[in-house]
Amino acid sequence: MTQDGTPAQAGLENLLHESRSFPPSPEFAAQANAQPALYEAAAADRLGFWADQARDLLTWRKPFTETLDWSGAPVARWFADGTLNAAYNAVDRHVAEGRGDRVAIHFEGEPGDTRTLTYSDLLREVSRAANALAALGVSTGDRVVIYLPMIPEAVIAMLACARLGAPHSVVFGGFSADALRSRIADAEAKVVITADGGFRRGAPSALKPAVDEALVPRDGVESPVAHVLVVRRTGQDTAMAEGRDVWWHDALESADVTHEPVWVEAEHPLFILYTSGTTGKPKGILHTTGGYLTQTAYTHKYVFDLKAESDVYWCTADIGWVTGHSYVTYGPLINGATQVIYEGTPDSPHQGRWWEIIEKYKVTILYTAPTAIRTCMKWGEDIPATFDLSTLRVLGSVGEPINPEAWMWYRRVVGGDRTPIVDTWWQTETGAIMISPLPGVTAAKPGSAQVPLPGIVADVVDDEFRSVPDGGGGYLVLSEPWPAMLRGIWGDLERFKDTYWSRFPGVYFAGDGAKKDDDGDIWLLGRVDDVMNVSGHRLSTTEIESALVSHDAVAEAAVVGATDETTGQAVVAFVILRSDHAEALGTTDEDEIIQILRNHVGKEIGPIAKPKRILVVAELPKTRSGKIMRRLLRDVAENRAVGDATTLADSSVMDLIAKGLSK
Ligand code: WT7
Repeated sequence: MTQDGTPAQAGLENLLHESRSFPPSPEFAAQANAQPALYEAAAADRLGFWADQARDLLTWRKPFTETLDWSGAPVARWFADGTLNAAYNAVDRHVAEGRGDRVAIHFEGEPGDTRTLTYSDLLREVSRAANALAALGVSTGDRVVIYLPMIPEAVIAMLACARLGAPHSVVFGGFSADALRSRIADAEAKVVITADGGFRRGAPSALKPAVDEALVPRDGVESPVAHVLVVRRTGQDTAMAEGRDVWWHDALESADVTHEPVWVEAEHPLFILYTSGTTGKPKGILHTTGGYLTQTAYTHKYVFDLKAESDVYWCTADIGWVTGHSYVTYGPLINGATQVIYEGTPDSPHQGRWWEIIEKYKVTILYTAPTAIRTCMKWGEDIPATFDLSTLRVLGSVGEPINPEAWMWYRRVVGGDRTPIVDTWWQTETGAIMISPLPGVTAAKPGSAQVPLPGIVADVVDDEFRSVPDGGGGYLVLSEPWPAMLRGIWGDLERFKDTYWSRFPGVYFAGDGAKKDDDGDIWLLGRVDDVMNVSGHRLSTTEIESALVSHDAVAEAAVVGATDETTGQAVVAFVILRSDHAEALGTTDEDEIIQILRNHVGKEIGPIAKPKRILVVAELPKTRSGKIMRRLLRDVAENRAVGDATTLADSSVMDLIAKGLSK
């Protein structure tokens, strides 16, 4: 359901008639990390349970004595009097405890180049990178922006920052120079770590020019960035600004291979990660150290049933999203896992590339997004059938609701009808998985994330904040603080309170619609606000509208997320052109105009935000108070009969739009 009461994704209602259930095999259940007792332990003493996890999974420099301080709600303090270091936990202690020769990262570049990094290798590289950053003036508390492709240096850079207690802010490499600029400015970053480029669909794709553009002073304001550290990946020609830009390999070569980690308090900021909200300005989600690491390690161990000595784990997410933070960098490395990192797209150079990688590295745990599964479904099951996928034993899904068809295909074609599937619900804000089946315990239902993890308390409530009965629907809330919860929005405490804590008293409002089935299991139904989910990536309708109206030719714009078979939702924009648009555009050809505007959005935000369709209209449907009725536009975008339009200020507008589109 969306705010105006329509299903965010048509067909989701069908989910609720899904009655298949897949209990774990007795063999899997017997060997699983998670046993039913985990729920009992957490229910008996929730805070004690989390304290046990924090002690069990992390190495503390100074042990904590207090588990949770909620007196400053909604800003939580977990394990606050303890000290630790994230990089020490992810790397050093494995080496110190005799696991230095274990492979940490099997890297597979898109062109087919490979690198293997053991935990000892990682320790050396992270230490050198930390020394190199320190030499560039980075010290504890300084922010560092990371803008890199999916190469080992992305993980090394994050850990080097964490080693210094310098919060990193990773910006997805697919974001534009403008998006990078605004994130650098908001975080007041001192250093940017980037690369000459990365390989994408068989060709080198430059990154450094976007950094150069983002650092040019604008409106008389200098960039806060003093240095740019540049990894050489593609070898393409790269301009280096004298005194500002430094090659990563030069800086690391001269850096010492040992580095004493900076021991920070548990509540020391670990990272800021920007994500789209309901307004035009992305929110800098702030995560701190002790609680975040506790919950990422805990979830990674139990939800994926990780056996660090024998599993080969692969999460396909990019480091630019929270999934890459929690389930590529921190969770797996804290747990001493061996993982695969792949640079490119699933279809380069052929549509079997993922399955080839699974066969090659004998991957046992795969974590990916429904949109990728649907894309592979479209390519056909003959492709995975030609590879040996028999090593797989747990499959995970994240980012958006997974439709039962995709779930069943994932289990049958990829999982050989034997693997448990974990459909994991969480958000950038929650930091780690919150709602998910536990393999070995939960009888899985295709399409449902089902149950809050042990230690997590969630509910579905109606408009009046009443818990809905089984069979009922409403809004998902998180009723008790959790260790990996965000500690705020960078520099904007009011927005933090307003966005998440004002809708219902004392509980966290997730922004998702949800339903409880007759067993009380939770089914996520999509966003209830103006946030879209395209291929598991979060985009704001308002942000794309602002990008469109920033073009001289556009008078007004309205953006909706329309249901899309592959990407979940697709961006559809309705624009009103200014009467003098021909001047601004140099054309009156509608196809050309649409192309120009799509590219404009790509430049303002990034290629992922480009509308799939742009419809030029004469009017937009608005209520008497001037609010755009996106519900009606969604009807048009999804080729449905237009719903109730009686609250429109001018009820003929929808006719006008329909007429305009059919010409
Ligand atoms: C939004 C969060 C969590 C990392 C990737 C996305 C949607 C996420 C599921 C799921 C249904 C899901 C929600 C949520 N979502 N996982 N398993 N089932 N919906 O992180 O960009 O912060 O987006 O993604 O709508 O609010 P994000």
